Amino acid sequence: MNGALTLPIFSLLLCILRSYALPFPFPNGMIVTNRTTADELALLYFKSMLSEGSLVSWNASGSYCRWPGVVCGSHRHPKRIVGLRLHSHELSGRLSPSLGNLSYLQELNLGNNHLAGQIPPELGRLVRLQLLNLSENYLQGSIPVTLRRCTGLMTLDLSSNQLQGELGWLAILTSIEFLDLSQNRISGEIPSVLGNISKLWHLSLMDNKLSGTIPSSLGLMSILCWLNLGVNNLSGVIPTSIWNISSLALFSVKKNMPSGTIPPNAFNSLSHLEKIYMTLTSFMAVSQLQ
Ligand SMILES: *[C@@H]1O[C@H](CO)[C@@H](O)[C@H](O)[C@H]1NC(C)=O
Ligand SMILES: *[C@@H]1O[C@H](CO)[C@@H](O)[C@H](O)[C@H]1NC(C)=O
Ligand SMILES: *[C@@H]1O[C@H](CO)[C@@H](O)[C@H](O)[C@H]1NC(C)=O
Ligand SMILES: *[C@@H]1O[C@H](CO)[C@@H](O)[C@H](O)[C@H]1NC(C)=O
Ligand SMILES: *[C@@H]1O[C@H](CO)[C@@H](O)[C@H](O)[C@H]1NC(C)=O
Ligand SMILES: *[C@@H]1O[C@H](CO)[C@@H](O)[C@H](O)[C@H]1NC(C)=O
Ligand SMILES: *[C@@H]1O[C@H](CO)[C@@H](O)[C@H](O)[C@H]1NC(C)=O
Repeated sequence: MNGALTLPIFSLLLCILRSYALPFPFPNGMIVTNRTTADELALLYFKSMLSEGSLVSWNASGSYCRWPGVVCGSHRHPKRIVGLRLHSHELSGRLSPSLGNLSYLQELNLGNNHLAGQIPPELGRLVRLQLLNLSENYLQGSIPVTLRRCTGLMTLDLSSNQLQGELGWLAILTSIEFLDLSQNRISGEIPSVLGNISKLWHLSLMDNKLSGTIPSSLGLMSILCWLNLGVNNLSGVIPTSIWNISSLALFSVKKNMPSGTIPPNAFNSLSHLEKIYMTLTSFMAVSQLQ
């Protein structure tokens, strides 16, 4: 089984040896041999960009498939990494572009750490990715548009970072079910094509710098339960289509600048609605809300 793997990886290793002159940027104790797989190398690079003392248990005393937080595939690809679950691990440093080499990765969960710098565009090479959670870090820069290649992405949580940029490319992620980009610095308008993501049940864009109007196409999202657009700079009328999303449990547009009236029958079809947040001073027909 290993025989087939060893040779190409050995050449890959030679490539790396050539392009990164010794000494290796690996932490002490890391031994790279001709048996080191591409996935293991990618992990070693990932570790090498974290601050000193991170992931000390990732060492040569055990196979990388047994390192804490590393999930390898089952029978068909036992040596390929399918998950990295390292949330709340006190990790600081930067994200290595080498993560983009973990081509079998389905789940990347690095939430609630102290990671800084940019999200590497190389993550867009992870075409099998289903869950990406980088929330509660200090990540900056734009959300790389290369992520649109991760067409199997179902959960994208980048909340509580310092990310910028606009959102137009998001609509290509038609598999997405859970999208949380709240508490960042995202600007521009809410793209109306977001309404095309029919599997979405959780959408939070809260606490960003979004402006423009709320697109009426959002009303097309027929299983949406959670729609949080609060604390932005949205203006204009709340489209009546929103009152048609019968699955809605939470709707917030608080701390924006919407105008116009709320139709008297607005809540008739919202039988699941539990919470609604609005800055009521900007509405003219508040009394009709009763
Ligand atoms: C890998 O290294 C071992 C010694 O550690 C050696 O016996 C083997 O021939 C090497 N394999 C290749 C493909 O170079
Ligand atoms: C290597 O990792 C093991 C756990 O996997 C840990 O017990 C051991 O202390 C580590 N060794 C070093 C030198 O950090
Ligand atoms: C990632 O893979 C590419 C080839 O696909 C290789 O050139 C590069 O050195 C690898 N980088 C790391 C850090 O593994
Ligand atoms: C993402 O990670 C954070 C921090 O660990 C966690 O609170 C949050 O629930 C995760 N998001 C999802 C969608 O699982
Ligand atoms: C969104 O859906 C409409 C039809 O419902 C379609 O005409 C339009 O091309 C779609 N847009 C994108 C960007 O997929
Ligand atoms: C808020 O949006 C309006 C246009 O709707 C724009 O003129 C204004 O600059 C925006 N303010 C901020 C702080 O982004
Ligand atoms: C809301 O739904 C009703 C019936 O399901 C439909 O007649 C109406 O056009 C919808 N309104 C909007 C604004 O989509």
